[in-house]
Amino acid sequence: MKYLLSKVMLASCLVLGGAVLSPSIAAEPAAGPAKPDAAKGATLYEQGDAARGVVACVSCHGAAGNSTIPANPNLAAQSHEYLYKQLNEFRPKTGATEALRKGVDGAPSVMTAMGASLTEADMRNLSVYLTLQKLSEPATATNPKLLERGQKIWRGGIPDRNVPACASCHSPNGAGIPGQYPRLGGQHPSYIEEQLKLFRAGHRANGPMMNQIADRMSDSDIKAVSDYAAGLR
Ligand code: HEC
Ligand code: HEC
Repeated sequence: MKYLLSKVMLASCLVLGGAVLSPSIAAEPAAGPAKPDAAKGATLYEQGDAARGVVACVSCHGAAGNSTIPANPNLAAQSHEYLYKQLNEFRPKTGATEALRKGVDGAPSVMTAMGASLTEADMRNLSVYLTLQKLSEPATATNPKLLERGQKIWRGGIPDRNVPACASCHSPNGAGIPGQYPRLGGQHPSYIEEQLKLFRAGHRANGPMMNQIADRMSDSDIKAVSDYAAGLR
């Protein structure tokens, strides 16, 4: 019996070996951009690069993307596609004078200067490094009085104003959908609130869906749902 089993295992190993081998051969001729390198991302995140004017991200976004300063978002465990998109959109596109993602009062975001000298490879390396980090110090909801209203908006939207349920895109537990919708669970509530107001004012113009949604929300709707979202796990 033992003998038989090992023969079967050997056969399946051979099959597997073949399957692993063929794609690597097929991929060789097409030399695309270098694969993102999380270790390089970690070094740049922690140390910056003084020669190129890159400030260490850790000084604002905390150890491994866990920010202890509420105005600076947590970046750990965020979708790498989303992070990469943001790093690009803090910079004015070629030929444009302003970035799509601006900050308070429509002034350039702090991140526009922080990300100015990042290369394409830096942005990919940083994004992959951050997506692999644990959100070890998630923020929590702070105001029990807002919970009921926040939960209602999160789960059911505001039907009479055509605001869709946040859960339908950002997922019921706030983890988002990698590659499509960012994580909000565990994010600092004041940061979430600020972003919704920036979307509503149009200063953050890199998410048309969110501009339309925030446009139909009042300050108190925004406050309640931001606090609720922060507490989601
Ligand atoms: C001086 C403090 C500071 C430094 C240094 C800094 N950031 Fe930021 N970062 C911020 C602030 C503040 C925001 C929120 C910006 C806004 O709302 O306009 C932000 C936002 C971001 C976002 C958007 C997150 C989201 O959820 O949309 C990303 C991504 C980001 N930073 C990455 C980085 C990386 C990578 C570095 C290092 C190269 C870095 N930051 C350095 C302060 C900083
Ligand atoms: C139809 C899908 C959809 C729905 C519904 C939706 N969102 Fe979003 N949301 C998005 C997308 C897409 C982005 C990313 C925009 C970008 O690329 O910058 C986003 C981004 C955000 C951000 C910015 C996150 C960050 O880290 O800066 C916040 C905050 C947010 N949404 C809150 C909400 C809230 C609260 C609701 C419910 C009232 C909601 N969203 C409903 C699609 C949606």
